[in-house]
Amino acid sequence: MNLLDLIECPEDAILEGDAVEVMRRHVPDRRVDLIVTDPAYESLEKHRSKGTTTRLAQSAASSNRWFPIFRNARLPALLAEMYRVLVDDAHAYIMCDEETCAILRRLAPEAGFTVWKSLIWVKTRRTTSESGAATPHELAAAQVRIGMGYHWRNSTERILFLEKGKRPLADLSRPDVIFAPRVDRGYPTEKPAELVEPLILNSSSPGELVLDPFAGSGVVGEVARRLDRHWLLVDVDTTTASARLTRNADMGRPDGLGRGHRDASLGGDSD
Ligand SMILES: C[S@@+](CC[C@H](N)C(=O)[O-])C[C@H]1O[C@@H](n2cnc3c(N)ncnc32)[C@H](O)[C@@H]1O
Repeated sequence: MNLLDLIECPEDAILEGDAVEVMRRHVPDRRVDLIVTDPAYESLEKHRSKGTTTRLAQSAASSNRWFPIFRNARLPALLAEMYRVLVDDAHAYIMCDEETCAILRRLAPEAGFTVWKSLIWVKTRRTTSESGAATPHELAAAQVRIGMGYHWRNSTERILFLEKGKRPLADLSRPDVIFAPRVDRGYPTEKPAELVEPLILNSSSPGELVLDPFAGSGVVGEVARRLDRHWLLVDVDTTTASARLTRNADMGRPDGLGRGHRDASLGGDSD
């Protein structure tokens, strides 16, 4: 038996395995204060097959091989687990495209969630210093980075905002559009820390536990740790998240003593 099977819900840890299975086996009811996640949703395959990055297992725009897809048929089980593990008054953010957002909007209330709205991430360049823009519109256009797709290329992504019970946002004045740079040559579909940070700040407090069951590069764990939250990451392949969290273990704390993390393979892929 894996030693971690004996631990109910490790904190500041990365668990390897299927998102739904790991939550079922290792996360008790009402244990998590916030979920920020970005599933490997099915419609991503469409963007990949039609995009300029075309049919490659290894995209030129990213450093890793593409990951396995989480089928739409499994979304009800995922939402049910997300709802179960959250404390009574909590938020969940699911990053997705328009197509998956429509599916999640329909399914999330069946799991018990209130669907509030989708926030929009506008993918920007890191710098606009050489844009030569003369008007605000030109500047905005120069800032936007195009992404996947074969026409009207994706420059935005949705973040579905769900609520279990009732939890006030920390800052009610934040807009529902977040401008944050696209990550170049990162993990496939890697999200920037600048996108994750406002979600964590607005929906959790220091010391609370943030879960990302589709961790990818591990950015949610890294930002949570920097903001002094506890974190729990899950992915079928934890290589990249593990390397990132270990590499940056001592960063982000004034005393240079970052929280370490535990790492374990739990295997399994079902449902
Ligand atoms: C869209 S990516 C997440 C990217 C991440 N937000 C980031 O910024 O790096 C989706 C992740 O889900 C993982 N994944 C796919 N199927 C999974 C499953 N059944 N359970 C857990 N993780 C899974 C993939 O390995 C991939 O890392």
